[in-house]
Amino acid sequence: MDEIRIAGGKPLYGTVSVQGSKNAALPMMAASLLHRGVSVLKGCPKIADVFCMEEILRELGAVTWWEDHDLYMDCTYADGTEIPCAFTGKMRSSVILLGALLGRSGMGCLGYPGGCVIGQRPIDLHLYALRKLGAVIEEGPFLISAMCGRLLGNEICFANKSVGATEQGILGAVLAKGETCLKNCAREPEIKWLCRYLRGMGAEIQGDGGDCIYIKGVEELKGGDMQVPADRIVAGTYLCACAATRGKVALTNPPEGELDAFLEVYRKIGGQYKVKSGKLVADGSGVRHALPLLETEVYPGFPTDLQSPLMAVLATIPGESHIREMIFEDRFKAAAELNRMGAGITVTGRDAWIQGGSPLHGCTVYAEELRGGAALILAALAAEGETTVRGYSYICRGYEHICEDLAALGGVIMKDTGTDLYENIHFSEKTADQYQ
Ligand code: EPZ
Repeated sequence: MDEIRIAGGKPLYGTVSVQGSKNAALPMMAASLLHRGVSVLKGCPKIADVFCMEEILRELGAVTWWEDHDLYMDCTYADGTEIPCAFTGKMRSSVILLGALLGRSGMGCLGYPGGCVIGQRPIDLHLYALRKLGAVIEEGPFLISAMCGRLLGNEICFANKSVGATEQGILGAVLAKGETCLKNCAREPEIKWLCRYLRGMGAEIQGDGGDCIYIKGVEELKGGDMQVPADRIVAGTYLCACAATRGKVALTNPPEGELDAFLEVYRKIGGQYKVKSGKLVADGSGVRHALPLLETEVYPGFPTDLQSPLMAVLATIPGESHIREMIFEDRFKAAAELNRMGAGITVTGRDAWIQGGSPLHGCTVYAEELRGGAALILAALAAEGETTVRGYSYICRGYEHICEDLAALGGVIMKDTGTDLYENIHFSEKTADQYQ
């Protein structure tokens, strides 16, 4: 069965490291297509979305292999230009391959992107950017087809901020003829990591991390070689687990400077943290304050990807909290399942009101998407009794070893090993006095 069982009610104590960033690795994998040779991503997370992107690169003719957590991609012969719906339907990120295909081969054809059911997720801004670079794009009922001789640099001004569309524009512009100015860009850290990776390949990019990015097209790029940064959303999820269980957790490799808005909220609800010799040491024992209003925002505001995990924490805090989801129109999927565990959440459009404080109790709940699924695990760790979380495969899209990590912190988690037995991955009993 695609499920895990969790026995809740125990504070988490201990130290854990954070996996490589899913949302940094995926565009860097797409960028590797722009070099006709070998690129490597070190410390790459072994998660379903990365494996899906790897499958797509192989479909295009790349040869890929792993050496521990280092992913090698030899794109010497990756001259395919078609990506079937079967692949693109699995993952939103597949759409940014169009810019890479056009940059490499001057043509591309792919199915519409799939991904988490958190809203409509249109791609108009992606196609706008590529058309501004000279691509001729036909939007068929099932496939998007694009052609261009060589992309031509241009000024691109996004109507609103989009992480993926910004990445799309960058991937199309780095080998285009001439200069490109991207305006109203997303400022998420993943954009800066992508540009750092591309600069290492010889791309000429300035301004990343700000609203305007300037790119001077080059003739060719050399192989990429970079360490994937720690995943800021996984780090935030683990800090939410610490808060939900009122525990004390240290992260050995926190994504420096990428969690400020989240940590500000962490303190508002009563959490404490300090950075000590590179570790981020968090104390959730004082978490007790409801949040009058929290709005998700584009970076550097509070990240939408931590909205559901935080909702699970707020469900454990007495009083009324209010979350307004400003990025995606349907991102409260976890609320109904949390209510089945005893949370008091009311959702109206983009607003969720959480009447926290009554104890959560274990039951069988269903994950429908990645971050909402993670929220259910956090609630299960805080709840009394045992919870079964079904749809664990959604969670595996972005979390490499969330069960093992939380178990190492003292969580009692059993993962279905597929043989109707449960592998009890609960590690040692941890108590506050053992906490380093
Ligand atoms: C990226 O998705 C992330 N995914 C998402 O993380 C994250 O939630 C999101 O950025 C916002 O930070 C990856 O990086 C793989 P957007 P993306 O384009 O690029 C609208 C996770 O859980 N929009 O910034 O798809 C869109 O509908 C995932 O790891 C258009 O209108 O997000 C949304 O309302 C979930 N037209 C808003 O912009 C477009 O062409 C922001 O979306 C594109 C987007």
